[in-house]
Amino acid sequence: MVQSHRIVSLAIMPTLCLGIPWASNVGNSTFGYSNTSFYLHGRPYQMIGGQIDPQRVPREYWRDRLEHAKAMGLNTIFSYIFWNELEPSPGVWDWDGIRGMNDIAAWYQAVQDAGLQAVLRPGGYICGERDWGGMPAWLSQIQNLTVRSNNPQFLEHSDYYFGNLSQQIFKYQVSQGGPILLAQVENEYGQYGSDHAYTAALSALIAKHFNLLQYTNDGGSQTQFPNGPVHGVLAEIDGDPYQGFATRKNSISDPTEMGPSLDGEYYFAGASWILNQASSFSLYMFHGGTNFAFSNGGLNFGQLEAVTTSYDYGAPLDESGRPRELYWELRSAIANYTGKTPNIVQTLPMSNISDVPLRPVATLLEESSGTIKSDSPINMEQLGQSYGYILYRYQAPYGVNISGQLHPGDGPRDRVLVYVNGNKRGVIDATYNPPQNVTIQIVGGDVLELLVENQGRVDYSSPLLDQRKGIIGDVYIGSNLVSPWTIQSYSVPTPPQGLIGKGTNHLPMITVSANSTPVWYKGNFKLDGRVAGTAAADTFLSISGGIKGVLYVNGYNLGKYWTVGPAQSQYIPGAWLREDNEIIVLELEPQVDKELVASGSSERVWYNNPDPDCISCKSANPNP
Ligand SMILES: *[C@@H]1O[C@H](CO)[C@@H](O)[C@H](O)[C@H]1NC(C)=O
Ligand SMILES: *[C@@H]1O[C@H](CO)[C@@H](O)[C@H](O)[C@H]1NC(C)=O
Ligand SMILES: *[C@@H]1O[C@H](CO)[C@@H](O)[C@H](O)[C@H]1NC(C)=O
Ligand SMILES: *[C@@H]1O[C@H](CO)[C@@H](O)[C@H](O)[C@H]1NC(C)=O
Ligand SMILES: *[C@@H]1O[C@H](CO)[C@@H](O)[C@H](O)[C@H]1NC(C)=O
Ligand SMILES: *[C@@H]1O[C@H](CO)[C@@H](O)[C@H](O)[C@H]1NC(C)=O
Ligand SMILES: *[C@@H]1O[C@H](CO)[C@@H](O)[C@H](O)[C@H]1NC(C)=O
Ligand SMILES: *[C@@H]1O[C@H](CO)[C@@H](O)[C@H](O)[C@H]1NC(C)=O
Repeated sequence: MVQSHRIVSLAIMPTLCLGIPWASNVGNSTFGYSNTSFYLHGRPYQMIGGQIDPQRVPREYWRDRLEHAKAMGLNTIFSYIFWNELEPSPGVWDWDGIRGMNDIAAWYQAVQDAGLQAVLRPGGYICGERDWGGMPAWLSQIQNLTVRSNNPQFLEHSDYYFGNLSQQIFKYQVSQGGPILLAQVENEYGQYGSDHAYTAALSALIAKHFNLLQYTNDGGSQTQFPNGPVHGVLAEIDGDPYQGFATRKNSISDPTEMGPSLDGEYYFAGASWILNQASSFSLYMFHGGTNFAFSNGGLNFGQLEAVTTSYDYGAPLDESGRPRELYWELRSAIANYTGKTPNIVQTLPMSNISDVPLRPVATLLEESSGTIKSDSPINMEQLGQSYGYILYRYQAPYGVNISGQLHPGDGPRDRVLVYVNGNKRGVIDATYNPPQNVTIQIVGGDVLELLVENQGRVDYSSPLLDQRKGIIGDVYIGSNLVSPWTIQSYSVPTPPQGLIGKGTNHLPMITVSANSTPVWYKGNFKLDGRVAGTAAADTFLSISGGIKGVLYVNGYNLGKYWTVGPAQSQYIPGAWLREDNEIIVLELEPQVDKELVASGSSERVWYNNPDPDCISCKSANPNP
């Protein structure tokens, strides 16, 4: 299931996304497989698995989530690894990330300490409703590089990635006494392409850097599965296991691709059927977590849909790490099957936080250093920026008098807020089908500003190749070319330093005018007795009066909010809270007559509001 804006249902539906010598070391003390079973330490091993991606879960809670997995009866944790977070720019490796969430070695240490096994799903392409399916945005700037193909440049960077990842986690492979049993090659490649030379080359790179058996994982239909398998690599399916296992059985003729059946992404209606097949499986997701900061991806089946910050997924363990009804059903089914009833892990109730007024303290688009002048717009990646916003500013010289429809290059990538002399004149947004049009007139002395938001690169579906953001091509008003431009990046991974700390009162309040450019708001709150730094302080924070923006708590980017929904509140890990806390909000569309108020709730509500910017949506009922 994919959570995107305008989708409210939590029903489980089939997703989208969703090596080495096969004659393996069965009977040895490590891990291997026959045609019908995996073997661990010489004994048959059925993976009763579930997926948790460490980079979507606060590091402080990794152990808690793993204990909950074990308490539900799982024995194996499948994880995607997000390359784009680990290598934010070429050759720059970040094994820390937000509060240690990129420390993949520590993740596998935690898996090992919990007594669980692991399956590594490194990508580079992982889909996963993440920005560009986990591939770094800067790949688009490397000359002649084509992602997901047998392309020397893509394979070279994949090689570096596997090499650096391997240095971190080598000792956590089962061959070295660690928990990692298997590594996946690519991800659902059969749904995308048919270049076996590419997948074979990728498999060879994994073999170069790791000492792990490998598998492929493809959708189980006749149109999806056949192009996925790689000679010498165990071929597996995901999705509907009833169909998938049959397809697999009928399609594989290469004995080096044969082995025990595994559903690598089981979108469970119930677990009994698959358990009784004695097949291995991984619940996708066991615990989804959160697309913190700007890490969400997008979909495009004719128009862009931005994935929400929440990756709750309707999973057995919800976004906050609390079991929902499904957790207990699955636990019971697994216990019936295995005959073992693991101990329950206690969960603390979440907390409420009473209203926190947020004061407008600064505007975003202040003149600053670091601007670039250019005749034509420059796209985001070319500026060395992967996420966030870019401002393109044009000042009309004396004598100009042009009017007409605004054309931002080859189209909005993805949401263009249009201002003339600091007044918002409209929104051109790729998530509307078709995007709205904005007609303006510009005369000498006018300042035209286009603030362009990256709403998330597509991770699945057709237009995967060109995922550059910002403006590509020239801007026209009617048939008039607009040039030159002053360009400013606003990647805003954190709020500006000047806003952080010292309470709120040192900053004078600013006045918000009608149709204003984006504004920074700030407020403070105390925990008042709840234990700072623990899950007891977990809350769902909503921004009443907010339309669309970014939420920062204690300097950490918690991700985007948008009134259209379905997520009307953001999960705040109590582990990131202190006795005294600071909320900073970047509101892109501040309302002149509305106060912004943050409040925390222990209960989450999902719903959609009408989109105030969508003219054609006005009549539609958003809550059928
Ligand atoms: C068996 O496992 C040991 C480590 O436990 C390893 O050194 C050895 O290479 C393995 N043998 C085979 C045939 O894989
Ligand atoms: C699986 O069965 C095929 C065909 O019978 C055989 O060639 C192959 O060796 C078997 N593979 C394993 C891993 O046992
Ligand atoms: C790590 O990545 C860098 C480039 O980012 C590469 O030069 C280096 O060889 C890689 N290390 C390994 C062990 O592959
Ligand atoms: C890119 O491809 C072109 C055309 O094949 C070639 O001339 C050029 O040298 C390539 N550049 C790089 C950096 O590989
Ligand atoms: C587990 O077994 C018990 C006792 O037979 C039964 O009541 C329960 O419905 C079973 N649970 C599941 C999920 O199958
Ligand atoms: C939070 O407030 C709601 C509504 O007043 C209440 O039902 C809930 O019990 C409160 N939660 C906690 C943990 O106090
Ligand atoms: C711009 O042109 C329009 C029509 O061509 C005209 O009505 C208007 O007065 C002009 N404005 C300025 C400021 O020159
Ligand atoms: C905007 O204009 C284009 C033509 O430039 C048109 O195809 C499209 O339908 C218009 N959008 C809306 C919402 O009317």
